[in-house]
Amino acid sequence: MKKLMAANWKMYKTGSEAVATINEMAAILNGSAPEGREVVVFAPFTALEAASSAIKAINGASTGAENLYPAIEGAFTGEISPVMIKACGASWVLTGHSERRHILGESDEFVGQKTAFALQNGLRVMLCIGETLEERESGLLRNVLERQLKLGLKDVPAETPADALAIAYEPVWAIGTGKTATNDDIVETHAICRELMREIMGDKADETALLYGGSVKPANAGAILGLDNVDGVLVGGASLKADSFTQIINA
Ligand code: 13P
Repeated sequence: MKKLMAANWKMYKTGSEAVATINEMAAILNGSAPEGREVVVFAPFTALEAASSAIKAINGASTGAENLYPAIEGAFTGEISPVMIKACGASWVLTGHSERRHILGESDEFVGQKTAFALQNGLRVMLCIGETLEERESGLLRNVLERQLKLGLKDVPAETPADALAIAYEPVWAIGTGKTATNDDIVETHAICRELMREIMGDKADETALLYGGSVKPANAGAILGLDNVDGVLVGGASLKADSFTQIINA
């Protein structure tokens, strides 16, 4: 399985800023993702079309949206459908990011609807899961991951190819805080995630990428990517600049 090197640009970058960053990445990478690695850039909707055109300059790289609404079209003011995302040239979408769960109030059920709908409509999905500090400290880690995975994957069509789905484990307390989980935490939690994935999807669990996210940076990316059950990284802050994200891609 190729390692997935994913950038989540959140609410940063206009279209022209996105293009400038991708062009810089293309130059540093000499037009290609390194062997054994696949690059994905999750960009804001307003930059998605421009980013998707620009990313063609990097072999083995693609773009994704950061959210979707689970309908093809309709009276859903302010929302974006998978058809629109694909028309921008993007092939991926994020679901269940902790900022959408905790700031925008998305439920596990809604995340599950989005995940299934995006897959049914030909997008690849990166489903994000992760516990808050309070949940971890109250011994609820496994319960939270189990609930988020079970409900998040509830209606995933059985025929979904393994590479259409990825799971990103991002402990909420490590996002944007500079506080990375220790390598031991990551190994222990990824083992729990993989076990839960096997319960839910059987053998396909071992072919489904499981990424770590939360304060990944050039200095820690190499070590994290070498840990058991880590098939890639999902990077926020350190993905905004071409030089730091390409250092991570090459780590
Ligand atoms: P940071 O890398 O800024 O901690 O963000 C992680 C994240 O939320 C990626 O989705």
